[in-house]
Amino acid sequence: MTIVNIDDLRLAARRRLPKLFFDYIDGGSFAEETYRRNRDDFALLKLRQNVLGDYNEPDLSTEYLGRRHSLPFMLGPVGFLGLYTRNGEQKAACAAHAAGIPFCLSTFSIASLADLRQVTDGVLHFQLYVLDDRTLCEEFLGAAEEAGVEALYVTVDTAITAVRERDVRNGFRSLTRVTPRLFASLCRKPAWLFDVARGGMPSVRAVEHRGEFGTGALEQAANLSRRIDKKLAWKDIETLRRRWKGKLIIKGILSPEDATKAQAIGADGIVISNHGGRQLDGAMSTIAALPDIRDAVGPDFTLMLDGGIRRGSDVIKAVGMGADAVLLGRAYTYGLAAAGQAGVDHAIETLRREISITLALMCVSSIADLKERGSHLILKQ
Ligand SMILES: Cc1cc2nc3c(=O)[nH]c(=O)nc-3n(C[C@H](O)[C@H](O)[C@H](O)COP(=O)(O)O)c2cc1C
Repeated sequence: MTIVNIDDLRLAARRRLPKLFFDYIDGGSFAEETYRRNRDDFALLKLRQNVLGDYNEPDLSTEYLGRRHSLPFMLGPVGFLGLYTRNGEQKAACAAHAAGIPFCLSTFSIASLADLRQVTDGVLHFQLYVLDDRTLCEEFLGAAEEAGVEALYVTVDTAITAVRERDVRNGFRSLTRVTPRLFASLCRKPAWLFDVARGGMPSVRAVEHRGEFGTGALEQAANLSRRIDKKLAWKDIETLRRRWKGKLIIKGILSPEDATKAQAIGADGIVISNHGGRQLDGAMSTIAALPDIRDAVGPDFTLMLDGGIRRGSDVIKAVGMGADAVLLGRAYTYGLAAAGQAGVDHAIETLRREISITLALMCVSSIADLKERGSHLILKQ
């Protein structure tokens, strides 16, 4: 099969992964309305076609979070990449850095930040789930400082985990060890089995030394998600703001009111996110939430956005409407699950090419030009 776009990578991932892992990545919560809306609302926006613009390859570099990066998108935090391919986090980080963009490691990862530093010295960000065990959180922050993490994303839309019905059907949530049924399903995907589980199930490095989380990624994952602090409140974010000296980004904001609160407590930016339609089903899409949030926080506050980015034109629409940059979630994870680092390289290159061609067809010379003329270039009907 020739892979020409992100949807093709999705199909390739479906072929290679055991069903329960593919469904975990691919699915949303409850009726998956918000999950679909994230995509559908991009399609409602139109791009202005301009012609005879004396073509030059558009300059896709842009500045966000204190640095100039070569592309207006980066790799966002996705849990357990090392379960979809061996050393998944390392491969994703290396692909990001080869392309000149940051990689954000999830708290829920097989590899630790120190493991990543063995293979790359590129720009690392870290996503923190605040756990009720604050000593462990402090360990995570110490490790982040040690690894030279420049931006910390605290995820705030997961106090309660919503029901992902595909996972319930697959019995995924209740799994803590490899049962005979799970073993049979894993054996149906021998390429994955040989790659990831030939030495047994990997484990979560950051909690390996904490026996109470159990052994093996499945049990550790179940225990980690149980320990997410359900009572997390703005005062805890203020405490974190005082503790963390690097950039602090609040991830999972969808309303102008919450955006201005984040700004008022001194966050450096937010990620407009509904967790890829995996949490509050019925919530609005992120692209629809963007304009009011930009109006509320003013032009200078850093706004990142994620959710439903599958095409270069989606990136253009988000940036043209006021996002500083976007985060990829499933788009690169499909690539990783399909073909390891080469698959992530392919996802990044596909989006880069789509952005470049699309901007050229709009006679837009650079991301800076897109940001400046965005309201004229992105049409709402
Ligand atoms: C399989 C999977 C695991 C995720 N794990 C995390 C996580 O550990 N931490 C987090 O903040 N967000 C997590 N997310 C949410 C992503 O960071 C991002 O918000 C979402 O994937 C964006 O939507 P998209 O996948 O449609 O691009 C996860 C998403 C997926 C699909």
